[in-house]
Amino acid sequence: MTTALSPSGTLRARITGTGAWAPPRSVTNEEMAKIVDTNDEWIVKRTGIKTRRLIAFEGEYTTADMGEQAARQALEAAGVDPLELDLIIVGTVTPDLRCPSCAVIVQDRLGAKKAVAFDVSAACAGSLFALSVADKFIRSGAARKVLVIGGETLSTITNWQDRNTCVLFGDAAGAFVVEAGPADGPGLVDVRIYSDGTTWQHIYIPSGGSKRPSTTEDISERRDRLVMNGREVYKFAVRALVEASKVILEKNDLTIKDVNLVVAHQANLRIIEAIGERLEVPLTQFVINIDRYGNTSSASALVTFDEARRAGRMKSGDLVLMLAIGAGMCWSSALYRV
Ligand SMILES: CC(C)(COP(=O)(O)OP(=O)(O)OC[C@H]1O[C@@H](n2cnc3c(N)ncnc32)[C@H](O)[C@@H]1OP(=O)(O)O)[C@@H](O)C(=O)NCCC(=O)NCCS
Repeated sequence: MTTALSPSGTLRARITGTGAWAPPRSVTNEEMAKIVDTNDEWIVKRTGIKTRRLIAFEGEYTTADMGEQAARQALEAAGVDPLELDLIIVGTVTPDLRCPSCAVIVQDRLGAKKAVAFDVSAACAGSLFALSVADKFIRSGAARKVLVIGGETLSTITNWQDRNTCVLFGDAAGAFVVEAGPADGPGLVDVRIYSDGTTWQHIYIPSGGSKRPSTTEDISERRDRLVMNGREVYKFAVRALVEASKVILEKNDLTIKDVNLVVAHQANLRIIEAIGERLEVPLTQFVINIDRYGNTSSASALVTFDEARRAGRMKSGDLVLMLAIGAGMCWSSALYRV
């Protein structure tokens, strides 16, 4: 679609291609039970997770490797050449290197020479934060074709001796090509982002940053790995995402009855069920893949959207509610008109 760049208000960010990629082999709960004291019944009952894909189990992949694969699928689906990209934004907290960004590595791999590339750090909400940035660039006319990636190898920052966390996560990447389209056409109706810094200690990594570079002892004590207060995160996630859903619908003169499909971050099936109950949306209206992927952090919302799109669950004119939440706490809601 050709759309002249024009001032804010006359453009809408339209998702013209999607892609998703994860390491090939599914790792079962029984395999996790060989690593920590856990079992299939507990994991399925408390989280809904049956298998996850982990980079360490087959082949050697990085966040940029997975992001590149997902991006190539999305670019092909959109019919966009990498040279046409104005912007590449990667939502990740597990970039290949601490410096430079994962986005510039993907830019190099794709040969997207004309793009500007950078990462955003909002943990599991990273891809929707990236989508929000893409939306603002497109609406303002500053960019016309944007590649948004959510890619994460949380297995590289997981404490593999902590059963409270290590069974939850999976590695994956998802990608969107987002292009400028007319404001009355399909595309992002609204995307809202939030953070509450008072809750940063709910999920964090004690060492390895400038505050506390990891010593040998930190590494042997696994202080360079993620710690999480699961119960607090659970309660916060349900409350924040229900509220964010209500706000975005109200601000756009819509109600939950207008929503056809919910693409929510796959952190825990019980979180999704609780959100559904409070919003009065049946579970059948949610896209669920946590059973096969676990929590893939910033990849989750994009992988889930891609899966629903390929499965034909999005029809022209449908309204999709997207939700994500992660460490920070940072969270986001978006409304997308197919
Ligand atoms: C982590 C989470 C699954 C734990 O579920 P929960 O129902 O809150 O479980 P609890 O933490 O209360 O633990 C209950 C018991 O199970 C045990 N347990 C924890 N992990 C276990 C595992 N993998 N296998 C077996 N038992 C486990 C605990 O030790 C505890 O035992 P205890 O009662 O003897 O102390 C849940 O809190 C959650 O999903 N939180 C949100 C996490 C999240 O989404 N994080 C990412 C944000 S994007």
